[in-house]
Amino acid sequence: MHTTKSERGIQSSPLKSLEEWDDFVKTRYAEEDSGLPASVRDTDKKPDQFRNYGETTPPRVREFYRQNHTYQTRDFVLARKKRFLVKDRAQMGIWEAMEFLNTLVDDSDPDTELTQIEHLLQTSEAIRRDGKSNWFILAGLIHDIGKILCLWGEPQWAVVGDTFPVGCAWSPKIVLHEYFALNPDSRIPEYQSRLGVYSEHSGLDQVDMSWGHDEYLYHVVKDYLPEEALYMIRYHSFYAGHREGEYEYLMSRHDKEMFRWVREFNPYDLYSKAKQRPNVEDLRPYYLDLIGKYFPPQVNW
Ligand SMILES: [Fe+2]
Repeated sequence: MHTTKSERGIQSSPLKSLEEWDDFVKTRYAEEDSGLPASVRDTDKKPDQFRNYGETTPPRVREFYRQNHTYQTRDFVLARKKRFLVKDRAQMGIWEAMEFLNTLVDDSDPDTELTQIEHLLQTSEAIRRDGKSNWFILAGLIHDIGKILCLWGEPQWAVVGDTFPVGCAWSPKIVLHEYFALNPDSRIPEYQSRLGVYSEHSGLDQVDMSWGHDEYLYHVVKDYLPEEALYMIRYHSFYAGHREGEYEYLMSRHDKEMFRWVREFNPYDLYSKAKQRPNVEDLRPYYLDLIGKYFPPQVNW
């Protein structure tokens, strides 16, 4: 059987770029966020009818979720943690990791799409403009660096996407929930109960989340940043939790308090994407200084 290059591409990389997933999330929440200040909204994007995700989601995004929901089993997550959390892949400074992420080439248009560093700077600059704390600005700057997993050969479905607990029942509010029927964990009764392998209000730190850039980066930076920033980084794609209020029964009282920060961060993640390109060279000295306040010159990845 013959397959074309683009057919092979869609098998492992259905998204044109990782931002295609970010843009889809933005569209989903645009309507309910229409009251947000203009400073964090992309005014070009109209709220629209993305309610029935099965029918209106672009085919590439749908295929991406099909893979994500099919392959993110509990076994997969535990194996990825074993592989990546030893952090023996590289020693890099934070800015160096941002430059490494910038080498990610995808099918998006280089003339109109921003580079990865420009995306990060847009988020951090929006936070900075609003006069937030240094650690908040820094969380904005680095929150997506974990996408370097793609450069180490990880498929898109194991790098981006809404995250969710594994080893317990999937919330029906997770987008395109129907694809979980394809996940082998759907046939393991223990994983299909409300609490699954966890206990009531055990705290999210005890819960294995689906594997991706959030969880990976959390483990890279957890010794260096205040807890509020770590929550933002670790749970920023956990939309079922921070936007839909699901999985409350797994959260500790402390998680619930700290999710205030995850929610405060979310508009900057969703809506800070202005058309204007940040000037990387002009901003670099400020951010190198900010990074130096929290991080050593080299970090283990
Ligand atoms: Fe992200």
